[in-house]
Amino acid sequence: MKKVLVLSDIHANFPALQAIWSYVRECRFDRIINTGDFTVYSTFPNETIQWFRKRKKSISILGNTDRRILRILKGKHLKRPKKEEKTIMYYLTAETLLPENVQYLKSLPRQTVLTIGDIRIGVFHGTCDDEDETLFPDAPDSRFRKLAKGSAFRVHIMGHSHTPYYKIIDGIHFINPGSVGRMFDGDPRTAFAILKLSSEEISVEHFRIPYPVDEVITGLKKNRLPDIYAKMYRIGRKLN
Ligand SMILES: [Fe+2]
Repeated sequence: MKKVLVLSDIHANFPALQAIWSYVRECRFDRIINTGDFTVYSTFPNETIQWFRKRKKSISILGNTDRRILRILKGKHLKRPKKEEKTIMYYLTAETLLPENVQYLKSLPRQTVLTIGDIRIGVFHGTCDDEDETLFPDAPDSRFRKLAKGSAFRVHIMGHSHTPYYKIIDGIHFINPGSVGRMFDGDPRTAFAILKLSSEEISVEHFRIPYPVDEVITGLKKNRLPDIYAKMYRIGRKLN
C-alpha cells in the first residue's frame, strides 16, 4: 500500500502547512502531491516554496495565483484580479519572493502525470480540460462523466475550488483535498487529504485540523494589509 499526502491551495499559509506536517509526522509518505497556488493572500510564500524544494518526494504544479506572480515578475500588467485589495496581495508576493524560489516556480509545469504502482494519476489545478475550471462537488454528474470518458488517468487530483471531496464516477477517482491555506466554507481549520493506493484498492481520507491563525494575522499586520483578510482567516470565508 502506497501513501500520498495530498495538498492544494496553500496560498502562502505556512503556519497551516506546518500544522499539517506536525499532525502527519509519523506517516511515511511515498509522495507529497501539491496541486498549486503556493502563493498569495498570506505572507509566507518563501517559507512555503522552500518547504517543497527541500522535499524530494514532493511533486507540485502551478496554480493560477502562481502563474499571475510569474507574469508580474516578467513585467506584464495584471488584468485580473481587478479589486485593489486583491492586487495588493499579488504585488507584495512578487516583491517578497527570493530569486531561488522564483526559479523553482518557473521550473514547475501547469499539470503533471505520475504513476504509483500501476495507477496513473493526473494532477491538475482546475481540471484536465481547463486549468482554471472551478469544479465543485455539486457540479452535475454529467460534468464528471465527461472528464472520466476516455480518461488516461485512474485518479484525478484537483484543486482550485478550495472544497474537499472524493467521487468515483465511471471508475475514475476524483479527489480534491480542499485548501490548506484559504478556506471558503466557514470552517477556518486547514484541509488536506491522505490517499492510499494498491492494485486492489484506492482510498481517500480527508482531514480538517486547527492551526495557529494568529501567526497569519501577525504577518498581515506587519505588512499593513487590509483588515478584511484577518477576518477572513478567522472565520474561514472568502470576503474579498
Ligand atoms: Fe486557490
